Amino acid sequence: MGRVSGKKAFITGGAQGLGACFARMLADEGAKVFITDVNGDGAEATAAEINEKHPGAAGAARHDVTSRDEWKTALEAAAGAMGGVDTLINNAGIGTFGSIETETEENWRRTQAIDVDSIFMGTQLAMPYLKDSQPGSIINISSVAGMIADGNMIAYNTAKAAVWMMSKSIALHCARSGYDIRSNSVHPVFTRTPIIDPLIALGGGGDEGEKRLVQQIPWKRLAEPEDVGYCVLYLASDESRYITASEFKIDGGITAQ
Ligand SMILES: NC(=O)c1ccc[n+]([C@@H]2O[C@H](COP(=O)([O-])OP(=O)(O)OC[C@H]3O[C@@H](n4cnc5c(N)ncnc54)[C@H](O)[C@@H]3O)[C@@H](O)[C@H]2O)c1
Repeated sequence: MGRVSGKKAFITGGAQGLGACFARMLADEGAKVFITDVNGDGAEATAAEINEKHPGAAGAARHDVTSRDEWKTALEAAAGAMGGVDTLINNAGIGTFGSIETETEENWRRTQAIDVDSIFMGTQLAMPYLKDSQPGSIINISSVAGMIADGNMIAYNTAKAAVWMMSKSIALHCARSGYDIRSNSVHPVFTRTPIIDPLIALGGGGDEGEKRLVQQIPWKRLAEPEDVGYCVLYLASDESRYITASEFKIDGGITAQ
């Protein structure tokens, strides 16, 4: 028996990076996973890789998280493929740069649409499925950037702070409604995925760029996707059955400073 045997997890943004890692780790511990991404081929590739190791464990679909219709279709397909959805991992996201003086309204709205509005919309649409398959777990991937600010990340800071508080509101609603559905947020620091390539480039690229970036982290190294994955695995498992409305920092100590 794996730590999440019998669980049915819907994972957004699973074509690469953290989402793909979560899918692999959950499948390795016995879960069924349904991987979605606006990059449909990438989502299919992650699922195919998992199915080679665990035949029939993974499904996939192209899904833009900003589209209500695509959420409906993807959730229906996932519930059909897995026999329900009890774990929702809202992971898809983009990182964007801009200050109060340089940020454009277009980039601001795009960041909020992908990083925040999609989680409100998708979780609302997923609620009937989660209620049908209790106990359930909603895992929202925020960031340390939702807790500590940068002068040139106004849209991202704001989006990730919103995800933090939205996770708590969902948790309180579920608890007060008597649903056995938990909701928590995960806050990684810089983690080795393609999303941090522009940050490494800012520091000169390559090893030197990475070295400069990690200077801000007391642990002085990047997080690896699995470091975040172990937290997600815990939150998806019944080991976290009493944990709701909480935030989990995978941050090498950066928010303590
Ligand atoms: N890597 C880090 O340093 C780090 C740190 C903190 C938080 N995060 C968060 O973790 C999550 C995953 O990021 P990652 O590091 O794996 O980045 P990534 O860029 O490697 O992966 C993000 C995935 O989301 C998908 N995506 C983007 N827009 C989408 C949309 N509209 N609909 C569906 N899918 C979409 C992309 O195609 C991509 O596959 C994001 O929410 C990110 O903000 C990452």
